[in-house]
Formats: sequence, C-alpha cells, structure tokens
Amino acid sequence: MLFDTHAHYDAEQFEADRDQVLSALPERGVGLVVDPGCDLPSSRAALALAERYPFVYAAVGYHPENCAPYVPADLDVLRELASHPKAVAVGEIGLDYYWEENPPRELQRQVFRAQMALAEELDLPVIVHDREAHADSLAIVREFPRVRGVFHCFSGSAEMARELVKLGWMISFTGVITYKNARRAVEAAQAVPLERLMIETDSPYMAPVPRRGTRNDSGNVSLICRRLAEIKGISCEACERTTWENGKRFFQIP
Ligand code: NI
Repeated sequence: MLFDTHAHYDAEQFEADRDQVLSALPERGVGLVVDPGCDLPSSRAALALAERYPFVYAAVGYHPENCAPYVPADLDVLRELASHPKAVAVGEIGLDYYWEENPPRELQRQVFRAQMALAEELDLPVIVHDREAHADSLAIVREFPRVRGVFHCFSGSAEMARELVKLGWMISFTGVITYKNARRAVEAAQAVPLERLMIETDSPYMAPVPRRGTRNDSGNVSLICRRLAEIKGISCEACERTTWENGKRFFQIP
C-alpha cells in the first residue's frame, strides 16, 4: 500500500466530491494519508476528516502564507487540537518568501519558531514548508535540536538535503520529481538515504506527469513512487514498502 504523507483534502478544490475521492483511495492502492492544516479552520477540518476515515491522519498548524491572523493565544488552540488521537504532527509550518503578498518575513519566522517550540513541548514531529527560504529555514531548525521533522515538497539543494539528514530529519518529494526540469529535486533525492525518504502528492496541487496541471489526488502517489524508485535504482515494490514504513515510523502510526 502507498502512503501519501501530505494531501489537503480540506481544500475547497475537493468541495464537490471530497467523500467520493477519499472513499475510493483504498481500492486505488492508497492505505494512509496525512492531511496537514494550514490555519485553525483547516486544522479542524483535517481532524474532522481523520475522524471519518480510518486511513486519514491530520497535522495541525499555521502555514506561513496564512499566518497573518496569528495571535499567541492560538498556540493554546493548536495545543488542544494536537491532543486529538489522530493528530500526528505540527504542520504545515515554515517560511515562504516566494510570494510578494505573503505575511511579513519577521512574522513568518516568529510563528514558525512558536510552533517549533510547541512541537518540542508536545514531542510531536513537524512538517516544514520551505519555499525560497532555505537558509532561514535551516537556521531555525538548528535552534530546536530536539525537534525532528520532514521538509515537504523539498526544493533545496542536495547539500541541504544531506545537512538535514545529518540532523536526523526526513525529506519528502512530490510530483515535482516527475517534471522534465526537475534536475535539482532529482539530485536531492539521490543524495538522501532510502530510510529518510517519504512521498506525497501535496494534493490538490503539484499533479505529477502525465497529469500535470490537473487537480491532484492521492491516487497519483503511485506515479511519484515509480519515479522515485527509478531515481534510487530500486523496484517500485521496494520503494512503496520503504516509503510506507518510513512514513509510519516518522508519524508513529500503529
Ligand atoms: Ni501543503
């Protein structure tokens, strides 16, 4: 079975057919999904989906793009949400310097640090979103040596990936590794040992080739698994089994 470690089924793109898509996943070979929250409402929505579907787990957190309304009291809400038995991580959290209209970088860093501290307190792993903010993301990760996590949709260099592996972190890849111009992501995937790799769709975004440009869902994680197997020079079966076991170990899913 495949483990899609990052998919946003609480997103509005699934408004019309969410239950149809989710209930069809097991017969399409997908046995586990983690749905990360992006703010308080979406964290609650992710938990609600996790309550309805035995194979769905949730993470709770403020995405850097959505952190403008953050107030320190929100940490208490996140702490409460994280106590849910199906909350397996704090996420997605991090830094996004790509969009001009994103919240101020200083606020992003403040909210990232606050949530890293929360993860440390709760002894939960984190899911990190890092876009065009590699140096600052790595620096903040280093401030919390007791927190372990995953860099999702990894876009850093092979050298950065090796650095994170040394710190005990996981690296996760999306459909980006199937794109023609994906040399950087492919090099990073080559640099990461098998036991530190996870796969994800980041649905509804980032659909892999040949479905690029369409709404993504977890069924497409098989295409990412196949490409990663190719990059690592192993069989699809071995890649499926290893990424499944890596994900279960990382999120401590029984
Ligand atoms: Ni995401």
